[in-house]
Amino acid sequence: MTMDSIRIYHQRTKHRTDRYAKGPGYMDWENQPDPFRRYSGALSKALPLCAKDLSTTFEQLDKRSSIPTHPLNLTGIATLLEISLAISAWKEMMGEKWAVRCNPSSGNLHPTEGYVVTPVLDDLKAGVWHYDSLNHRLEQRGVPQDEDLEHWSSEFPEGVFLIGLTSIHGRETWKYGERSFRYCHLNLGHAAMAVGYGAACLGWKARILDSPSDEEMELMLGLDWNPKLPPAEKEDSGLMIAISTAHHDPTAISTHVEDLAQLGEKASWNGRPNHLTQNPLREWVAVREAYHASHKPRKPVSKPPVLPERPMIANHCSQKAVEIIHQRRSAARYDGQTALEQASFFRMLDALLPCKNTGVWDLFPVATALHPVLIVHRVIDVDPGVYILPRHPVAEQKLKHAMRKEYLWEKVDAAPAHLPFYLLERGDGREFAQIVSCRQEIAGDGAFTLGMLAEFDANLKLGAWHYRRLHEEAGALGQVLYLEAEAAGAQGTGIGCFFDDYFHNLLGLEGDQFQTLYHFTVGAGVVDKRLSTIPPYDRD
Ligand SMILES: Cc1cc2nc3c(=O)[nH]c(=O)nc-3n(C[C@H](O)[C@H](O)[C@H](O)COP(=O)(O)O)c2cc1C
Repeated sequence: MTMDSIRIYHQRTKHRTDRYAKGPGYMDWENQPDPFRRYSGALSKALPLCAKDLSTTFEQLDKRSSIPTHPLNLTGIATLLEISLAISAWKEMMGEKWAVRCNPSSGNLHPTEGYVVTPVLDDLKAGVWHYDSLNHRLEQRGVPQDEDLEHWSSEFPEGVFLIGLTSIHGRETWKYGERSFRYCHLNLGHAAMAVGYGAACLGWKARILDSPSDEEMELMLGLDWNPKLPPAEKEDSGLMIAISTAHHDPTAISTHVEDLAQLGEKASWNGRPNHLTQNPLREWVAVREAYHASHKPRKPVSKPPVLPERPMIANHCSQKAVEIIHQRRSAARYDGQTALEQASFFRMLDALLPCKNTGVWDLFPVATALHPVLIVHRVIDVDPGVYILPRHPVAEQKLKHAMRKEYLWEKVDAAPAHLPFYLLERGDGREFAQIVSCRQEIAGDGAFTLGMLAEFDANLKLGAWHYRRLHEEAGALGQVLYLEAEAAGAQGTGIGCFFDDYFHNLLGLEGDQFQTLYHFTVGAGVVDKRLSTIPPYDRD
């Protein structure tokens, strides 16, 4: 039943060339949701701004053993947040001012909220802390009962704590209507991978926990604690990420999640959430139903497969990783001229393949369910045309079978042998790329654009909650592309607006064995000189 519902949701929220998925149809600027949640009255702890002291370079992230591990303390947690979920700059143009963050978000609406769940640390009380990214501070939401305090802390294996991510769907539905549920989970994937990179910079490990159910997440983060919130402002369960220092195993906390949820149920929950709009936001039934239809059940703790260790194409980016993370921006325009270096292009593709060398792909237990199909426009010594990067050998065979029979499947000779990169068809795809991306010029004016084909049917058969997970993996891939593009001196832009079946038709795909879930463009961005940039926080 729920699996059918989520398939129906997916179909009805497809953009088509002759009609967009159901949305509000206009922008109600008077009632734009506040992208920042705060909990007034909760104990608040200002966090130090110390990311600038982190010397890890971007190229060092490929050699995790070379990164010194930071101790688990308030400074470490503050740094992790400052390079993953914090504001990275304020932008100003013609009297308008808005914040951009390390994690990008569709429409810059930021549905994702972040929480830190900790044992007693030297300089931080035990409990559940909401991250107030506007002020870079923690607000203590959940306080374990005095008699439970020791029990609570004992549930955290040494060197481990949790980051919880939630979604406020109403922030997205305000602009995107029914398609918003997809966007929320793409955003969660971006945010989770932002945390993954942050952890890697500190020499830490990050792993999304597969075991907690929605209900356990809700209990652990106190999401149901304030029933007075209008439904569209409610925070829904997203992802629970275990973080550990280098010498510990983040997944060791998996077996403690049930207990932590029970203790969370007994905790006292502090602070009053701010209202995000003046008038209550409209509740979009299709989005609420999609959340319930893709309910995440409790899963047994399993040992994930070990990632392969293999040669990686170097990125030669000796800039500090923190700088790359803070300078990351979406290009709103591309110059339509500059070609990307071949080596940079192959490196970006390589970074999309999980391997053991880099810490960032520790994030997912398994993450090879999506396969980029690229439309290359301007890459030096790579013919313009349609290409594919199957991220798993079994999927490669399935894709061959499902896609157009006339496709070439010619291995690209210039690419390193370990890169499963194939030419499908030569030709100028700029016009097609633009049309498929809801006619956005960014898709034709960059060096390449891509759509991520998910093994949709097979994953949904594992459980409807995999619908969320597929979008989260897609968002994570997008985050890798954003940072890799910056490191190569280029820029990226996530593309959530695309004509789903128009893309499938080009590739000759029928049915829902494969579905495209997210698109992306990389190229030479054009800087908008009218914009000025202001530092993120007014303190040092
Ligand atoms: C899931 C997702 C979908 C997006 N879709 C589009 C899109 O279709 N077109 C576009 O120009 N930008 C798109 N963006 C880029 C956002 O507009 C951008 O991230 C946001 O304005 C914040 O700016 P920043 O990335 O520079 O921080 C998307 C971003 C995300 C994360």
